[in-house]
Amino acid sequence: MRILSVVGARPQFVKLAPVAEAMRDRAEHVIVHTGQHYDHNMSDAFFADLGIPHPDVNLGIGSGGHGEQTGAMLSGLETVFTDTAPDWVLVYGDTNSTLAAALAAVKLHVPVAHLEAGLRSFNRRMPEEHNRVLTDHAADLLLAPTQVAMDHLAHEGLAERGVLVGDVMTDVLYRVRDRVANTPLALDAPVEPGEYYVATLHRPDNTDDPERLRAILDGIGKVTRPVVLLAHPRLRAVAERHGIDLSVGAVTACEPLSYPDLVNAVSHSAGVITDSGGLQKEAFLLRVPCTTIRPETEWVETVEYGWNTLVHDDFAALPGIVDRPRPAETDAAPYGTGRAALTTVDTLLARDGA
Ligand code: UD1
Repeated sequence: MRILSVVGARPQFVKLAPVAEAMRDRAEHVIVHTGQHYDHNMSDAFFADLGIPHPDVNLGIGSGGHGEQTGAMLSGLETVFTDTAPDWVLVYGDTNSTLAAALAAVKLHVPVAHLEAGLRSFNRRMPEEHNRVLTDHAADLLLAPTQVAMDHLAHEGLAERGVLVGDVMTDVLYRVRDRVANTPLALDAPVEPGEYYVATLHRPDNTDDPERLRAILDGIGKVTRPVVLLAHPRLRAVAERHGIDLSVGAVTACEPLSYPDLVNAVSHSAGVITDSGGLQKEAFLLRVPCTTIRPETEWVETVEYGWNTLVHDDFAALPGIVDRPRPAETDAAPYGTGRAALTTVDTLLARDGA
C-alpha cells in the first residue's frame, strides 16, 4: 500500500516521526513537506533529530496570509497527488497544511485519513479550529487520540469514520524522554535544574495585539523563578515590529529548541507557561505543572487531572498561578501508552482504500 503523509509545521514533524517508524517495511511511505515552516530549527532539525526520512517532495511554500499560503498548498499538492497516486493521504493535526492536503485529496477522490481527529477548542477565532472541523468532515478515516475526541466526532455525526488510536505524540515523547534522561541541559540561560520555567507563545490571539502581548510578558516577568522563553519566529517578528523587549523581569528570550532539548528542558523545569497545544500535553506526560495562556484547551484531560491551569485575560494573576504548588500525583494515561503510531498503521493497512 502506498501512503502519502503531508506535513508542513513543527508539531507535524513530531507526529510524523513515530508514524514513519511504524510504517517502515510495512507500507510504501511517501513524505511531502509543504514548506510552511522552513527555518532550520523549525524544520530540518526535527527530521535529523527524530530520524525521519528526508521528504520525497518539498513544495517550499513558506509564509503568507491564510488564503495565499493555503491556496499555494492546494495547488501544489493536487499535482503531487495526481503524480504519486497514493492509496491513502495521511494528514496531521490542524494547520493550514492539514486542511490544504485534505481538500486537495478529497477532490481527487483519494482516500484521506486524519490523524489527531476530533479535537475541538470550540473557539472560532482560532484558525486551527476551522482547519480541524473542515478536515474531519472531509476525511474518510478519523484517527482520534482520546475518547473525548471520539465523543466530539460522534456529536458531529462522524462516529462511523472514527477509530480511537491514541496519541502519537505520546509515543515519541516517551522514546525521546528515555534517550535524553541523563544528558546536560541545552539552555542558553543561567538556570539550575528544577528552578526555572519554560515558556512558549505563538498563537496569533496572544502575539498579534501589542497591548495584550505586553500584559502577558509583564505577568510572566513577575514569577519567582527564571523563565526561559523559547521565542517562535512569529513572536520575535511581532515584538520587533512593536518595539517590545521579550526579555523582561524574570524572562530571558532564547531561540526555539530541538525536540530532544525541549523534552530535556521541560523534564527538569519547575513548570511550563505556554499557548501551544502539544506542549501542554507534553508537560502533563512529564508530570510538570503547566499554565496555559488561552481561554480553553483541546487537551481537557490535562486540566481535569489538575496539571494544567488556563489563564485567559487576568495576566496580573499569572505569578500566583505559575508559582502554585505541584498538584496531586496521578498515574492516569488518557493519551495512551506509546503505541498509537503502530495502531495507526495497523488501521490504515487493514483498509484497502476507503
Ligand atoms: C503554525 C500553525 C499552528 C501550529 C504552529 C506551530 C496554522 C494556521 N498554524 O502556526 O497551528 O501550532 O505552526 O509552530 O497552520 N516563520 C518563520 N520561520 C519558519 C516558520 C514561520 O519565520 O520556519 C514565521 C512566518 O514568517 C510567519 C510566522 O512565523 O510570520 C507564522 O508562521 P505560520 O506557519 O503561518 O504559522 P505559525 O504561527 O507557525
